[in-house]
Amino acid sequence: MKKKLCSILLAGALALGTLAGCGSATGSTDGSTSAGSDSGKVSQEASVSSEAGGQEATTKTGKVGVAMPTKDLQRWNQDGANMEKELKAAGYDVVLDYASNDIATQVTQIENMINSGCDILVIASIDGDSLGTVLDQAKEKNIPVIAYDRLIMNSDAVTYYATFDNYMVGTKQGEYIRDSLKLDSTSGPYNIELVTGDPGDNNARYFFGGAMDILNPYISAGKLVVKSGQTEFKEVATASWATENAQSRMDAIISAYYADGTQLDAVLCSNDSTALGVTNALEANYVGSWPIITGQDCDVANVKNMLNDKQSMSIFKDTRTLASKVVEMVDAILKGGEAPVNDTETYNNGVKVVPSFLCEPVFADKNNYKKILIESGYYKEDELK
Ligand code: BGC
Repeated sequence: MKKKLCSILLAGALALGTLAGCGSATGSTDGSTSAGSDSGKVSQEASVSSEAGGQEATTKTGKVGVAMPTKDLQRWNQDGANMEKELKAAGYDVVLDYASNDIATQVTQIENMINSGCDILVIASIDGDSLGTVLDQAKEKNIPVIAYDRLIMNSDAVTYYATFDNYMVGTKQGEYIRDSLKLDSTSGPYNIELVTGDPGDNNARYFFGGAMDILNPYISAGKLVVKSGQTEFKEVATASWATENAQSRMDAIISAYYADGTQLDAVLCSNDSTALGVTNALEANYVGSWPIITGQDCDVANVKNMLNDKQSMSIFKDTRTLASKVVEMVDAILKGGEAPVNDTETYNNGVKVVPSFLCEPVFADKNNYKKILIESGYYKEDELK
């Protein structure tokens, strides 16, 4: 119905030689759905001359479902907001949903997106293994699916994957610890503890794997010692990446192995929410000198901690870059073309190797934050005070 109306308006606008915008803004936030538009799988497009400025302007129709995991973490709010802004600016209708880290909620939201006529889905999954069934419905309707940031596992319905180079995130964290402790030129031994992310998030294995590929040789050589003995992924995982879960595990480790003043030299934390939990635990109960703490995301609270010497580094993943890339992919797909990719080997989701675009993660610490976070316009200096 709305599609027809759009076509009529578009035809009218073309006849008048003026700009026509079919892509009306639609709803966002937890659980919301938008007033639908067309359900065609390949969007219509008309290029018309704009009177103002005389350049070529493009009016598209198409509805994009964007499923985000949670509003609890700063980054997903930014990811969602950036995607929504850019997609709308490109003329698309957007349904943006957050699922409060609840798998069933995310499945229902995706189902609604499929049934309300979304032409394409962009999904940052909560649990990469839980979307197979709902995505079968998308596949039946020929709705392309872009896995956003986190790979969706064991589903052949996933068309593309856009993310940051997750393995590289881990290696940068591992290299930082190696270089800061001068593991190649001092004898140690140094004490380290390991904290990674949610087992249902495929990324967590890449972050942890990348870091451990750097650190494991030093652990095997006895130069790095994990007093808790917890080195396996399943032992060091943090359910939901939750700050409080990382904190309570670290509390237990401190009281069992470091309460007597034993020095802890480094804590590998796969991201900022876990780093925050570790920092809280150390502040409450640890008496030795402050260890190296890694992170990822450059969340405001963590950048503040870096500036106050409580966190050593983070990884900057500019959500604007990822959002722009995904909008480019959406645009290409809805025009019937192929999305840009730069990796066709790494990300096997158990059923197929998913063609991927990997953005580059950037090392951040208190020495370069001004350049990468402030001068780039990501944050205002005031936000970090
Ligand atoms: C993302 C990280 C984020 C973590 C927790 C991962 O999938 O890649 O940037 O810190 O999820 O939300």
